[in-house]
Amino acid sequence: MTTQYPAPTDSSGSEQLRDRIADVLTRARQRTLTLTGCIDEAELVAQHSRLMSPLVWDLAHIGNQEELWLVRDVGSREPVRADLDELYDAFKHARANRPQLPLLDPTQARDYAAVVREKVWDVLECSELQGRPLIDGGFAFGMIAQHEQQHDETMLATHQLRTGAAVLSGAAVPTASVPAAGEIVIPAGEFTMGTSTDAWALDNERPAHRVSVPGFAIDAAPVTNEQYLAFVDDGGYDRPELWSVRGWAHRTEAGLVAPQFWERDPAGHWWRRVFGVMAPLRPHQPVVHVCWFEAEAYANWAGKRLPTEAEWEKAARFDPATGASRRFPWGDTDPEVRTANLGQRHLEPAEVGAYPAGASPAGVHQLIGDVWEWTASSFEPYPGFRAFPYKEYSEVFFGGDYRVLRGGSFGTDPVACRGTFRNWDHPIRRQIFAGFRLARDLRPGEAE
Ligand code: AVJ
Ligand code: FE
Repeated sequence: MTTQYPAPTDSSGSEQLRDRIADVLTRARQRTLTLTGCIDEAELVAQHSRLMSPLVWDLAHIGNQEELWLVRDVGSREPVRADLDELYDAFKHARANRPQLPLLDPTQARDYAAVVREKVWDVLECSELQGRPLIDGGFAFGMIAQHEQQHDETMLATHQLRTGAAVLSGAAVPTASVPAAGEIVIPAGEFTMGTSTDAWALDNERPAHRVSVPGFAIDAAPVTNEQYLAFVDDGGYDRPELWSVRGWAHRTEAGLVAPQFWERDPAGHWWRRVFGVMAPLRPHQPVVHVCWFEAEAYANWAGKRLPTEAEWEKAARFDPATGASRRFPWGDTDPEVRTANLGQRHLEPAEVGAYPAGASPAGVHQLIGDVWEWTASSFEPYPGFRAFPYKEYSEVFFGGDYRVLRGGSFGTDPVACRGTFRNWDHPIRRQIFAGFRLARDLRPGEAE
């Protein structure tokens, strides 16, 4: 069974839940202010890439979503700035056009988010945290903390795209402490995918349902820079037979020759630009900033394939000893520093084998944290899906040209990451912190 957050059935449980909510909201805001406080006003309003919003848009959008759901809906309070709803509605204006909008300036945006937050503290104090689906178990507060953290990861990706002197720095990333290579066989059988009990799980993770998964083998670790470089050196980007038709067309049109942010010096050594600093490519770190089509071509070159979403989740959650699905590969406890590289503590993936305490019972490493992992699957609803609390979070994306990513990255906060969490993006996108691991079908006669 998956763990629930403290049920708000008695006053002490409810206080514990309130404290937890206050913690995650505070942590999100600290990160937002760090990411928007380390560059000047001109850079906050600038467009660092047409794929991204100016950071000042994210800042006010975070405040506006919090106002809509917590101040107005949960709290039934008067609007703070109803006039801003249209401006900060992500569906009304494409990212590329956002710099031209009459946005709040950085000071106004910060003040707006702070005023909303002050009201939210009062709403939290007054809320029963139960009695209707939106607030049961503190859901709406958890959803808004996750929303802010998702934008914080997006803002981190904007920082990676920005050129100029470095402004962010993280703690040195851990190196490998155990070997994490080869494949793990996951025998055929049913498992429980998704969740109906995790109080802060978002609509697309629901409901829990049984899925039958044929036996498969999955890599113990994500594909590393060294492995990916072998593909590059083997002419991987110049061999159309390794790419799908769409993938090759994209590779050609976009002029892809290596992962984004890789640069080769005249001596032939590869470097990687990481938040404004050039660093030698570190061979044992997972490759990051590759699109789905690059992952697909690599898999073809390696004679394997990407895991399906169900395979990935079974590898991450299925406990063969009990037959139950856990919240995380290591069990039901929240992520810790020793189990996963999450939360922007480090600003790059850790070497494979750096988190033995985070491995699954079967020995699959680093499913959570480090890099988002592309899966073979399109983004579709689970059987019995119901949009909640709004269609624009998930439902409008089902059936579109999206591939599912799993597991979170070094840029993902623990509140927005778990074994059931589903992310998605277009197969050409690579500014996100995405890598991948490989899987394959079992060979005839191979132990099941
Ligand atoms: C789930 C990461 C794809 O950033 O587009 C933020 C999250 N939804 N605001 C996105 C989201 C609304 C979403 N992803
Ligand atoms: Fe948003």
